[in-house]
Amino acid sequence: MSDNIFCRVVRVSDFSVRRLVRAEIAGWPVLIIRDGEDFHAFRNRCPHTGVRMNAARVHEHALVCPHHLAYFDLRSGKCRANPPSGGLDGLPALTRYEIRLTDGWIEIEIEGAPSLGGQTRGEVRIGPPVRFE
Ligand code: FES
Repeated sequence: MSDNIFCRVVRVSDFSVRRLVRAEIAGWPVLIIRDGEDFHAFRNRCPHTGVRMNAARVHEHALVCPHHLAYFDLRSGKCRANPPSGGLDGLPALTRYEIRLTDGWIEIEIEGAPSLGGQTRGEVRIGPPVRFE
């Protein structure tokens, strides 16, 4: 039996097209991204150096790390282009979380979530939303 459950995080109506929300679920930093009609969720850590990507932007269905400009495909999390400076061949993919929409809410599957004690919004800290041009 899986130890994973879906945690209710943010309302769909809180997003506009190409908007990113940062959240922290029991210490797990998460990025939730709307790209058109699709939603994606990743651990908010760049696999290059492990830093958070709070100032990331979305470009051509990719999440662009603000530090060295690696492009990560929003559908798979895989690095699909090296930064202009090069040298990042074989960069691991972003950690992707399963996501579902329920009753107008975005819910994210987080490993070990039962330790949160529930799926209520009160268990989740929501970071300030970041709007993309
Ligand atoms: S820290 Fe993200 S590409 Fe280097």
